[in-house]
Amino acid sequence: KGLSDEIKEEDNVLVLHEHNFARALSENQLLLVEFYAPWCGHCQQLAPAFAQAATELRNESSPARLAKVDATAQTALANEFGITSYPTLKLFRDGNRTHPLAYTGRAVGIVRWMQRRAGPSATLLQDTDTAAAFVSSQDLVVIGFFKVGWGGWGLDSAQAFFDVAVEMLDLTFGAAEAAELFQAYGLSADTVCLFKKVRGWQGSGGAMLSPLPTSNQIFGAKIPHHMLLFLNKSSSEQLSLRDGFRAAADGFRGEVLFVVVDVTGHGADVLPFFGMTPDDAPTLRLVKMDNNRKYQMEQDDFSASAIRSFIQAVLDGKVKPHLLSAEPPEDWNTRPVKVLVGKTFEQVAFDETKNVFVKFYAPWCPHCQAMAAAWEELAERYKDREDIVIAEMDSTANELENITIHGFPTLHYFPAGPGRKVGYKGTRDVETFSKFLENGGMLPEEPPPVSEVRDPPSPQDSPQPLLGEGMDPAGWER
Ligand SMILES: *[C@@H]1O[C@H](CO)[C@@H](O)[C@H](O)[C@H]1NC(C)=O
Ligand SMILES: *[C@@H]1O[C@H](CO)[C@@H](O)[C@H](O)[C@H]1NC(C)=O
Ligand SMILES: *[C@@H]1O[C@H](CO)[C@@H](O)[C@H](O)[C@H]1NC(C)=O
Ligand SMILES: *[C@@H]1O[C@H](CO)[C@@H](O)[C@H](O)[C@H]1NC(C)=O
Repeated sequence: KGLSDEIKEEDNVLVLHEHNFARALSENQLLLVEFYAPWCGHCQQLAPAFAQAATELRNESSPARLAKVDATAQTALANEFGITSYPTLKLFRDGNRTHPLAYTGRAVGIVRWMQRRAGPSATLLQDTDTAAAFVSSQDLVVIGFFKVGWGGWGLDSAQAFFDVAVEMLDLTFGAAEAAELFQAYGLSADTVCLFKKVRGWQGSGGAMLSPLPTSNQIFGAKIPHHMLLFLNKSSSEQLSLRDGFRAAADGFRGEVLFVVVDVTGHGADVLPFFGMTPDDAPTLRLVKMDNNRKYQMEQDDFSASAIRSFIQAVLDGKVKPHLLSAEPPEDWNTRPVKVLVGKTFEQVAFDETKNVFVKFYAPWCPHCQAMAAAWEELAERYKDREDIVIAEMDSTANELENITIHGFPTLHYFPAGPGRKVGYKGTRDVETFSKFLENGGMLPEEPPPVSEVRDPPSPQDSPQPLLGEGMDPAGWER
């Protein structure tokens, strides 16, 4: 035919036709081809983002390139690749012309999708410093720990991990093999761990949220219940309890994640979340991940059958959650701000003769600290009013049956009389609090003076993750 196989570019996108297609495949290890029609609106919409992605990949000298084919003009190519709608995106890898992979994601995801295919899909972490920096670089990261040894990353479990990482663009993946890293995170076997950035109760940095089975279940992150066995790993008697625990796991795949927590290791850090001390081990808890509710057996029984029936009862809604409560401090009632705990809350807040204004806070939360002085001042102002109680409750140590706190601080007003609760949405200063109280639990609707700039709604801090560091993967050696 004599036509040239020269490849032209537009905005870093290779312009392909039937004569240069083969050459483009042979020269580019990863080639994402858009088959388009000039008249197609979606194609026109995609064009700027596609060009942008092409430029970014070009810029970083990625082996991944983007290309386009006018499928209405290149009918031979359109037929060969079965193009029936526009735009259709196909990824050609290693020059393989017969088995392209469809790209169905959004335009903004193209660069990341290609990058994950071009390089290792997970960042390789060499030592504890890089790992720590990696963990705190994002809100959520997944790290696979694999003893790859001489087998390289081709090990089946590691390969499965990298394969999943390629697909799960919303998460950032790291991979580690150094013995120093296994040690640093208290791991002994191949494990995939999810890390969530925490502020507050463990300082800063990442806390291991939960280990996931290494097989192909990174989706474990979404498993709605976590069943935890707390034990002292130095005690062989307690270690043997893992057998029943593992046996119980079989019936609940996808529904319940089974995790063994060593209370003498890093696992000690999660104990406060359960209101426990190392001496409480061995013991069992079930956590419902969507609302942080915790469940425990009336009497711990570690046999597989007892664990199974307990879990089933929780799943069937037959078990009441176990609510945390601290002990009331001795002076809870003597200072202007009354200090409430789980077990005294109802008696005070639901007192029908009092108007009770409660601050639910977390000790580590900066927005709570910022309003602490105003709350004290408010309490001071109303300390002689018999009918008004200004109170606070540390929601990290106290839980309530029907009130779930979703962010800190949360302010609720419980006016005198039966069963009402009013959320406070105003600014957090003593004058506005005071107006709200004087006005019976409402803020008067005042048009703001023209000259005044209104505060933006103040942000809140989210509650902390459920599980902290140091989950022992022992339960996962299947
Ligand atoms: C490509 O790199 C140049 C120079 O390094 C930079 O100015 C430009 O913003 C980059 N473009 C994109 C799309 O990343
Ligand atoms: C293309 O990939 C498929 C699937 O991986 C494989 O079966 C086939 O042999 C490859 N073709 C070439 C030419 O490498
Ligand atoms: C764990 O068990 C070992 C061995 O029985 C014991 O010495 C140690 O004190 C225990 N630790 C805790 C925190 O109970
Ligand atoms: C919580 O709500 C349930 C159902 O409405 C009710 O039966 C129970 O008394 C409430 N508990 C408290 C402490 O208010």
